[in-house]
Amino acid sequence: ARRHSLAGKHVLVTAGPTREMIDPVRCLTNPSTGTMGFALARAAARRGARVTLVTGPTLLPTPPGVTRIDVTSAQEMYEVVLQHADTADFVFMAAAVADYTPVETAPSKLKKEADELVLRLRRTPDILAELGRRRRPDQVLVGFAMETDNALENAREKLRRKNLDWIALNRLNEPGAGFGTGTNRLTLLHRSGHLEELPLLPKDEAAEALLDRVLREIPSG
Ligand code: C5P
Repeated sequence: ARRHSLAGKHVLVTAGPTREMIDPVRCLTNPSTGTMGFALARAAARRGARVTLVTGPTLLPTPPGVTRIDVTSAQEMYEVVLQHADTADFVFMAAAVADYTPVETAPSKLKKEADELVLRLRRTPDILAELGRRRRPDQVLVGFAMETDNALENAREKLRRKNLDWIALNRLNEPGAGFGTGTNRLTLLHRSGHLEELPLLPKDEAAEALLDRVLREIPSG
């Protein structure tokens, strides 16, 4: 069957980790490689969408036909995403955004002196929650969740709290799923309560399957 087309649609995708600088040579980040978000951007472009990809630091090549914007911190990603969200028909928030950032970034390299060092951190803005507050009724918002405990409950709670259409839950405690792997096993939850388990797939196929589910007639409820 012909894949669902995205011709004429604007698809906004975020990918990769963010980097929160402690000083000029040290940062807080996470193991995200950006693979899942880049696969989604590539798949959406293949279906004819105009694709904006906002990515944290990664060495991945830009997929053909995709407009890429590189950012570093969660705050920068927030600003760039909000600039492009108004015209987006679909938003896939696949980035692993840092939840905390240093209260201060030291202007020069911190010296190692004491045996213990305390870092003061503050919360970063929740980009997706903000999109959920601003969304147009016809805009489709898809979040991702990576959980170690009470995965389904937590993902359902995020879907509601952030006002999303879908959340894609990464199974972290299973071989082949999650950070730094070429494969993923996603559990898709729709706001109607509909739940769908995708099999373990290479991330490019997981991206195609996710697009198919999101573009297919939305389950009722
Ligand atoms: O709350 P949690 O971080 O688990 O939610 C995950 C989802 O929220 C992901 O889609 C992630 O990209 C997004 N997120 C965000 N801004 C943050 C933290 C997470 O957009 N500061």
